[in-house]
Formats: sequence, C-alpha cells, structure tokens
Amino acid sequence: MAQNDMDQDILKVLFNEEEIHRRVEEMGRELFSRFQGRDPLFVGVLNGCFMFMADLVRASGLKSELEFIGVSSYQDATRSSGVVQITRDMQRDITGRELIIVEDILDSGNTLAFLSNYLMSKGASSITIVTMLDKPSRREKAVRADMAGFVVPDEFVVGYGLDYRQMYRNLPYIGVLKPEVYSK
Ligand code: IMP
Ligand code: MG
Repeated sequence: MAQNDMDQDILKVLFNEEEIHRRVEEMGRELFSRFQGRDPLFVGVLNGCFMFMADLVRASGLKSELEFIGVSSYQDATRSSGVVQITRDMQRDITGRELIIVEDILDSGNTLAFLSNYLMSKGASSITIVTMLDKPSRREKAVRADMAGFVVPDEFVVGYGLDYRQMYRNLPYIGVLKPEVYSK
C-alpha cells in the first residue's frame, strides 16, 4: 500500500482491502441475481457510502440508475444524536421504484429508520437495505439490513468511507480508531 499519514491513529485493522474486495464482489453477485431485469434505483447515503457505492454498483453489473441522498445525525460526535436531517435531497421522482439503499454502517438504526419512512412516503414501491457494516449491539430502532458486508463489535470504526470528523474516509481498509484520537 502507498504511504499514509493515518495508520498511526488506528488501533487495529478489522478488514483489509482484499477482504473488503472479496465481500463486495459477493454482495454484487447477490444483488445481480435478485434484481436482474428489474430496473432498481441505487440510493447512496452520503457521505459515508461513496467508496462502497462505487465498488458495489460495479460489482453488481446491474443496468440501473444511481441517486444520492445526504443525511446527518452525528454533528461530529461518535454517537448518534437521534435527530436525522436531510442535507441533500434526491433529484428525481422515485414513485413506484424499487430502491436499493446503500449505507456505510447500520448502528443505532436512527438514520435508516428515518430514511426508510421518508423514501416510502415519497412513493418507493420497495426498499432493500444494503450496508457495508452492521453494529447490532447498539440498535435503538427496529431496522434490519437485507444484506450486510460484515458485523462489527461496539467500537468506533473508520476507513472505506467511514469517518471521524470527516477524516479517515480514504483509508482503503476498515479499522478501529484509537480512543485517544477522539478523547483528545
Ligand atoms: P445510525 O443512525 O446510528 O444507525 O448511524 C448511521 C450513521 O452513523 C452511519 O451512516 C455513519 O455515518 C455513522 N456511524 C455509526 N457508527 C459509526 C462508526 O463506528 N464509525 C463511523 N461512523 C459511524
Ligand atoms: Mg458519518
């Protein structure tokens, strides 16, 4: 791997680049068999989805459109505030569309509970939730992923799109951030 300035802030690597790649390829194949010929609309949840979305849509090989929606609930903390706000809305009509929501991590479930309601209220005909990571130990809302890349323990993780204060998103692996980095 190329040199980087972030490795020193990582306590341990949970999933390396190769493991992520293999898992995303599998998920892509599964999406292809579920959605082939059905014209689904991928909806990526910004900002965390950007890397996973790019890899997943290529791995799926589906003839499909892409959309993005921006939400925030964290306000720079490591715990969800529970209040979800749309920071960037979608640019098209989703009436009658089958949506594949692409998220970086399902944690408390606040974001995806809110988004599922919101997108159904806008007329989506179905919602399939695909998340790279699932942290079930911290769930507050009854939301489950239809497909999850990996289950993670109750630790704050970064990389492959996931951030702490908008940083570390560009790490090619997923790792646990050293607690001293956010308790400083
Ligand atoms: P939820 O609303 O608590 O399910 O959280 C969803 C959002 O919180 C994700 O899209 C992430 O942006 C963020 N998040 C939750 N856990 C982590 C973590 O361990 N690292 C980085 N971001 C996280
Ligand atoms: Mg985030």
